[in-house]
Amino acid sequence: MTLPDLKPQRVVAPFKSQLLKWIGNKQRMAHSIANLFPGDMQAYHEVFLGSGAVLGTLAPERGYGSDVLPPLMEIWRTLSADPELVKRWYAERREGWTPETKLELYERARASFNANPNGADLLYLCRTCYGGVVRFRKGDGYMSTPCGVHSPMPADNFAARVDQWAFRTRNVQFDLMDFRQAFERAESGDVVYCDPPYTDSQTILYGAQAFNLHDLIEQIDVAKSRGVRVALSIDGTKKSGLHTVLHDFPEHLFETEVAVTVGRSMLRRFQMGGETLESEVVHDRLLLTYAE
Ligand SMILES: C[S@@+](CC[C@H](N)C(=O)[O-])C[C@H]1O[C@@H](n2cnc3c(N)ncnc32)[C@H](O)[C@@H]1O
Repeated sequence: MTLPDLKPQRVVAPFKSQLLKWIGNKQRMAHSIANLFPGDMQAYHEVFLGSGAVLGTLAPERGYGSDVLPPLMEIWRTLSADPELVKRWYAERREGWTPETKLELYERARASFNANPNGADLLYLCRTCYGGVVRFRKGDGYMSTPCGVHSPMPADNFAARVDQWAFRTRNVQFDLMDFRQAFERAESGDVVYCDPPYTDSQTILYGAQAFNLHDLIEQIDVAKSRGVRVALSIDGTKKSGLHTVLHDFPEHLFETEVAVTVGRSMLRRFQMGGETLESEVVHDRLLLTYAE
C-alpha cells in the first residue's frame, strides 16, 4: 500500500545541526521520518545509529541507540557520560588550526586513529575529512579519507552543539551492539528505526562489518509478531541492495510505504520555444510494518 498522504503521527520540528558528519546521514529528512512514528510509541530504538540524525531530531523520552563501529559508539557513550570531554576532544585536535596547519593537524589525528582506533580522533576526522566521508580500507580497516577543503567549525560552536545533542539524547542509552542483539530488547509498543548500509560499497565505507539483509528481514518479522513497530529506510535507487531483495519480503511484513520528501532539486528542461526551470521533488522511501 502506498500512502504518500499518510498523516503525521506527531509534530517533530526539523533539527539540522549535525554533531557528526556521516555518509548516508538522514539529517535533512529526519523530522519527516520521525513524524511517521506512532503517537503511542513506548521506547525508541535506532539500531544502525551512524550520526543518529533521526534520534537527535526526535529526542525521545526513552531511547536506545546502537551501532557496530566501536570508535563511533565511544563518541556516543562519552556524549552521554561526559559531554565536556567530547568538547575537549574536538578543541584539542583543532587547536592551532590555520589553512597552513590544517593538513598537519588532520594527518596527526588520522595517524593516531589508525594506530589505535578511538572516538576522540574519529570525531575530529569525521568533521574535517574530505566530503565528511569516513572511509575504511577493506582489508585492514585503515581510515584512508584525505583532508577536507573546508574550515572546521570553531571549538566554541562545536561545544554548543555538544550541549544541544547531550540534552536531546539525555534519555538515551548507547550501546556497541549488532542490530540483531538490539532488536531483541525491543518490546511490544516500542518502535525500531532501521537505516542499514544499502550496498556493498557502503559496507566498505563503514568498515566492512558483516551485514546481511535477510537477517534484517527476519528480525523485522519476529519483532512485528511481538507487537514492535518497525520503520525501514530504503533508498529509491535500483542499484540498492535493499531494492533487489524487496521481492523477498514476506507479503504481510510491511503495511505502508511512504515517500519521504527530501527537498527540491531544480530540473532544467528544454522545450520548444524556450528553456523552463521546474522543480523536482526528491524522495526517500520508508517502509512501515504498521498502518495508522
Ligand atoms: C546508513 S548508516 C546510518 C546513518 C544514520 N541514519 C545517520 O543519520 O547518520 C548505517 C550504519 O549501520 C552501521 N552498521 C553496519 N553493520 C551493522 C550491524 N551489523 N549492526 C549494527 N549496525 C551496523 C554502520 O556502522 C553505519 O553507521
